[in-house]
Amino acid sequence: MKEGCIGREALEARLGERRAAHVAGTARMAAELAEIHGADAEKAREAALLHDLFRAVSAGELDALIDRYGEDPALKGDANLSHGKVAAAWMKEELGIEDADILNAVRYHTTGRAGMSKLEKILYAADAAEPTRDYAGVEALRKRARESLDGACVMALESALRHLGEKGVRPHPDSRRALAWFSKQKGEID
Ligand SMILES: [Fe+2]
Ligand SMILES: [Fe+2]
Repeated sequence: MKEGCIGREALEARLGERRAAHVAGTARMAAELAEIHGADAEKAREAALLHDLFRAVSAGELDALIDRYGEDPALKGDANLSHGKVAAAWMKEELGIEDADILNAVRYHTTGRAGMSKLEKILYAADAAEPTRDYAGVEALRKRARESLDGACVMALESALRHLGEKGVRPHPDSRRALAWFSKQKGEID
């Protein structure tokens, strides 16, 4: 995607100032992680710029988009899960983006999944660790992401699951499968 295709002003109009800053921070960090870990920085930036494009639309609008793009009806009423799926479908249908890796990075940015590609890991880690994020442990996560994408994804997944557990929310199976997959990978490498 060319610079300016979705600029800061357009993002702010659509998402509000705070979320637009999060998206810009995610794009910067995703590009940096791509450079460090040998992935395509342009793809990483493109996925990051679009990942939360549907984060601020109403629940009703998201549900209508789930129908329009033939996404899983079980996602209805769960904006936290559906905004990435709808964004990926919209990118394919409306922007004509065919790159499966970019689409999957956006599609799975909330949960992660078993078998995540390098680009998916980059967006997952950058989303959690970008410079405007401010929570206990984020500095350690930023450092880890520069050393190891797998290490950072495991940290971020464990922290997400811990937070869900504290709120009494069952984690999505994709997140549990992602963690199991990372630990199996590690076992095979060790
Ligand atoms: Fe998101
Ligand atoms: Fe995000």
